[in-house]
Amino acid sequence: MEALNVIAAKMVAKGKGILAADESTPTCTKRFESIGVDSTYDTRNEYRDMLFSADGLNEYISGIIMFDETLKQSTTCEQKTPFPDYLASKGILPGIKVDTGAKELAGFTNEKITEGLDGLRSRLVDYYKLGARFAKWRAVITIGDMIPSDACIYSNAHALARYASLCQENGLVPIVEPEVLMDGFHTAEDCYEVSQRTLNVVFEQLLMHHVDLKGIVLKPNMIISALGCSEQANIDRVAELTFKCLKDNVPSDVPGIAFLSGGQSSDLATSHLNKMNEKYMDKMPWNLTFSYGRALQEDALKAWSGSNREDAQQALIFRAHSNSLATKGMAADMMQKS
Ligand code: 13P
Repeated sequence: MEALNVIAAKMVAKGKGILAADESTPTCTKRFESIGVDSTYDTRNEYRDMLFSADGLNEYISGIIMFDETLKQSTTCEQKTPFPDYLASKGILPGIKVDTGAKELAGFTNEKITEGLDGLRSRLVDYYKLGARFAKWRAVITIGDMIPSDACIYSNAHALARYASLCQENGLVPIVEPEVLMDGFHTAEDCYEVSQRTLNVVFEQLLMHHVDLKGIVLKPNMIISALGCSEQANIDRVAELTFKCLKDNVPSDVPGIAFLSGGQSSDLATSHLNKMNEKYMDKMPWNLTFSYGRALQEDALKAWSGSNREDAQQALIFRAHSNSLATKGMAADMMQKS
């Protein structure tokens, strides 16, 4: 078994980031509906095959998060290589989403708790055998009238910690994802407060559960204004607030932080990451990179439209390359071309 800190370091190596391609079947179906493509076992396989086999992807992408169905699927060419083996042969770490989704939190309105702990140990054993070397669990925190509650933050942080410790017991690096949503009308400063509160409790719980922080990757939101907020924080302000929030609340033992895109446009997700690395790289103890879903796939999905593999792969490579440069604060020129 490779040491967890070695795997985690590979996941967040400078110049590389993680492709989140772990949309559940219902989410993938929604995405396919937007381009008028039927979502079937085979079309989902085709789409993931198109993404994973893009030429040069391994220059920019260290790992790919998959959904259970995808981890068990294979390349569509003659060889029919199982995806985990195919990715490993290209030097890309196979990852697996292991939570079973965010459900209504009983006793609270408009708040969610992520489920999936029951039976997780044996699922992790199976996923490891199939080739997965890291996992993902996403908790969602909503900002609104009098929320998030402490109950929501604590129960989600507790579940994240139990998940993370089970992953480490079974040789998988846990991606710990506490996502403060950008839905609503709140300011970037509100997002800062709630993110700070959440990160504090998450690390308290991780330490309480004996999680080795050198063997995790943190996947947080950036500190941004809500989609409905009338005053949008600019790129410099987002970089400043996000850097401060992480610097003050994320222990330096954590090897890397890989952001989710969370509904930001592809361009903004890259520009924000780029600005943080351009301004603060030498002040951060961890590598700052990306683990985007939509911000890497959106253009590729549109270009693909069910069959156009080459254009879609080009679009994916362009986004992966731009974000790779953003991990070094060097994406400004590339962004002008988008
Ligand atoms: P987005 O980048 O589309 O937010 O997806 C990342 C992810 O993995 C959410 O869990």
